[in-house]
Amino acid sequence: MAKEIKREVSLLLYTTSELTTQVKDLISQAKEAAQKARAPYSGFRVGAALLLSDGSIVLGNNQENAAYPAGLCAERVAFFSAKANKPEAIILKVAIVALKMNANEHNIPAPCGSCRQVMSEYENEQPEPIEVYLTGRTGDVLMSSSIENLLPFKFSSDQLGN
Ligand code: THU
Repeated sequence: MAKEIKREVSLLLYTTSELTTQVKDLISQAKEAAQKARAPYSGFRVGAALLLSDGSIVLGNNQENAAYPAGLCAERVAFFSAKANKPEAIILKVAIVALKMNANEHNIPAPCGSCRQVMSEYENEQPEPIEVYLTGRTGDVLMSSSIENLLPFKFSSDQLGN
């Protein structure tokens, strides 16, 4: 009989009025970043806003290219920018906004697998988890208490055996 190996994941669904001013501000900055996205091919504009432990905010948006795979998602633009400029930065929160979406429990603006992988490695290297807020131009805000919660059975450097 096979043994079940289970990982539970869960999100919290908030309405905007239930959020702290700090989170509302982070989301509005992610929305502004999304408006500046370069998405001429998909028309799907995404913005990401990171809150660092020094109180600063780092923004990113998706950058598409005619050679499609050369483009990059908003989350990785923001995380790479934060870590390029402040390698020791601790990332406390990230707000991710997909402008085309009306977010609710059936329509979740979820980060892609590659971005989850990248965010997860940075989370692993810091003492605290990264809170994630997902929303659209309209709708609810879905919160994950960590990246790990979005990527069960993650691949990490431990598996490299180094
Ligand atoms: N995209 C992001 O920027 N973040 C996500 O979480 C999902 C997808 C971008 C990549 C591409 O430019 C466009 O959205 C459509 O996939």
